[in-house]
Parts: sequence; C-alpha cells; structure tokens
Amino acid sequence: MSRYERPNIAAMQGYTSGEQPEDDNTIKLNTNENPYPPSPAVQRALAEIDVSKLRTYPQPTADALRQYIAELHGLQRDNVVVTNGGDEALRLAITTYVEPGKGFGMATPSYSLYPVLADIHDAPIAEVALDEEWQLPDNFADELNARDVQLTCVVNPHAPSGTLTDVDTLAQVAQQLRGVLLIDEAYVDFVDPDSLYDSTRLVAECDNVLILRTFSKGYSLAGLRLGYLLGPQTLIDPIVGKTRDSYNIDHISQVLGLAALHDRAYAEDTWAKVRAERTKLKHHLAQLGLQAPSSAANFLLAEVPDNAAMNAAELYAHLKAEGVLVRYFAQPRLDNRLRITVGTEADNQRLLDALTDVLT
Ligand SMILES: Cc1ncc(COP(=O)(O)O)c(C=O)c1O
Repeated sequence: MSRYERPNIAAMQGYTSGEQPEDDNTIKLNTNENPYPPSPAVQRALAEIDVSKLRTYPQPTADALRQYIAELHGLQRDNVVVTNGGDEALRLAITTYVEPGKGFGMATPSYSLYPVLADIHDAPIAEVALDEEWQLPDNFADELNARDVQLTCVVNPHAPSGTLTDVDTLAQVAQQLRGVLLIDEAYVDFVDPDSLYDSTRLVAECDNVLILRTFSKGYSLAGLRLGYLLGPQTLIDPIVGKTRDSYNIDHISQVLGLAALHDRAYAEDTWAKVRAERTKLKHHLAQLGLQAPSSAANFLLAEVPDNAAMNAAELYAHLKAEGVLVRYFAQPRLDNRLRITVGTEADNQRLLDALTDVLT
C-alpha cells in the first residue's frame, strides 16, 4: 500500500463487477443486460459516423440528446444532465450533494456500487433494511434524517428483488427526507405499462428529487456507457456547470444515444418480449421449487429452499460449469438466492434444463 493513498481508499473494498466471459458459449444471465441486440438504427448510425468529427471535442453538454430526452419526459432541457452511464450519474450526485464526512443513505440490500461510491467520497453510509416484502419501512426517512444523510439512493424497481414501489410512497419519502432523494430507475423500462408507473411528475413537485435512467438495459447499450439524470433545474445546474467532467459524453455516444431514442419503438418491443419471458421464467422456476417475488425488472430473485438438492452457492457453481452465468451474492438475505437475468427464450430454456438436471 502506498503511503500516499487516502486512508478511506486504503480501507475500502472496490466494486466487484459481474463476470464478463469472452467465449460465445456462455449464457450471460448475471448482469441484467438486455438479451436482444441494440436497434438496427444504432448500427446504421455507427456506420455513418464521420470520423473527421472526432478531431474536435464533442458538444460539451450533449445538448441535442439532452433536448430529446427532455421532450421524451415532458420536461425542459435544464431538467436533464447526460452522463457516462448511470454509474457516473451516481458519482456526480454524491460529489455534488454530499459534503465529505456527511451521511449517504440507502436501503439494504440494493445496488452494491452505492457503498463503494460513498466510501470513495468518505461519506459514512446509513443503511436501513428493507422489510420482508423488499419495501421501504415506514421509518425509512426518519432513520436517515437522524443520521445526517444528505443524499439517499433508492432503486426502483428494486434490485436485486425486482419489486416496485409506487410513486406516492416515493413522493412521501422525498417530502420527509432533509436531503436529496435519488430514484435509481435503471430497470424502469421493463415495468409493465399497465401499472402506469411514472415518477417524472416528482421533478416538478419536489425540489429534492433526482431520477436516474440508463441506456444500458432498456436500449441494449451497456457497452456504450450512457445514462442521464432528471431533476429540478436547481439540482441539475450545479452538475452540468460544475461537477461534471468537461466533455463527459463522447461524440459517438451522443450520436448513437439519439439514434436509439429515435427508434424507441424497437426498444419497447424488446421490453415487451422481456416481460413475456419474465412471466414464463418465473412460472418455470416455481415449478422447480425456486420462488421469486413479482418482478417489474428484467431479472428474478429466485429463492433456493433449504431442502433443495443444492444450496444457492452450489447451484451458482453448477450453472457456471454448465455455461450459464447467474449472480450469487454471499451476503445476508441474499445468500440463499440467485439473481437471474431474463434472457431470450433459448437462454432461459438452457438455464431451466441445467436446473432441472439437479433439482428434480
Ligand atoms: C441499480 C442500478 N443502478 C444503476 C446502474 C448503472 O448502470 P450503467 O452505469 O450501466 O448505466 C446499474 C447497473 O447494473 C444498476 O443495477
């Protein structure tokens, strides 16, 4: 260890990324990517990129994309900041809204990057356990206020359970919290449209709400690194004007992001297919004894019963040996479960075949 490393960095654990196998035979049901390819419009836009444009810096604030995103959500350009993936949005929210030494709030369990970013920033982490149904407990905001929390991240639909919290509950939490509430909607594209879930009204209603979106899941563009935050101008301005890296979105990402949004119908079709596969997969897992809560996301959190032939860690290893990667978290409440991304029909069948071999 270098004596120059900040003590909090020396003491912290880094983020463990999901495995990314190089071979084509492994089925990736471990990092919640969209199983369908990006829109053909993205492929065409990529082929048409004018390489000479890369000689100069890109438009600094990705304004064409920003404007399009604003219109998509019925907001103004000043309500949007485009980021290098949702992960950069999280980092920017912490840097901008948490004084070093002041608290960062989260529900447990949730996205494992949150505590890593808080540790980097030297912000003490205040965790509040979710209830039995993976919902925020009634005392959520009170607990965080008592611990001087300046920014709280709530992922909705929840990861890793997939459960959805309604907008009224989130509005109430925002109202009760003394700090900023970031609603991480990385998986919102897979929510059933019949539920009419739409939190964007909170941008106008609350002065302390940020909403995170990403192109990684819904638009099949995890490799591109593109996301954004929506929020009242008072929260967005300091990020756009001060804490964001200059030129945080490269020219290619700006062009491809717009192409993906222009062909939103293609993406919507993939969301519908994922939802249909999710219903089937949940049913088939249950037939094998693996129950999962109702999921509004593109993954299921399957519980491995105590009397199963293998425990969750063993099942994870068995599936991996069979060329099917899923996610296992060795932590309280999750260590008897597997988080399984909904794949294509063929992917899901391979998973079910590998599970059937050992569970029946
Ligand atoms: C809950 C949650 N939030 C945010 C992200 C950020 O995704 P990205 O940086 O790819 O946009 C992820 C990625 O897996 C996630 O699971």
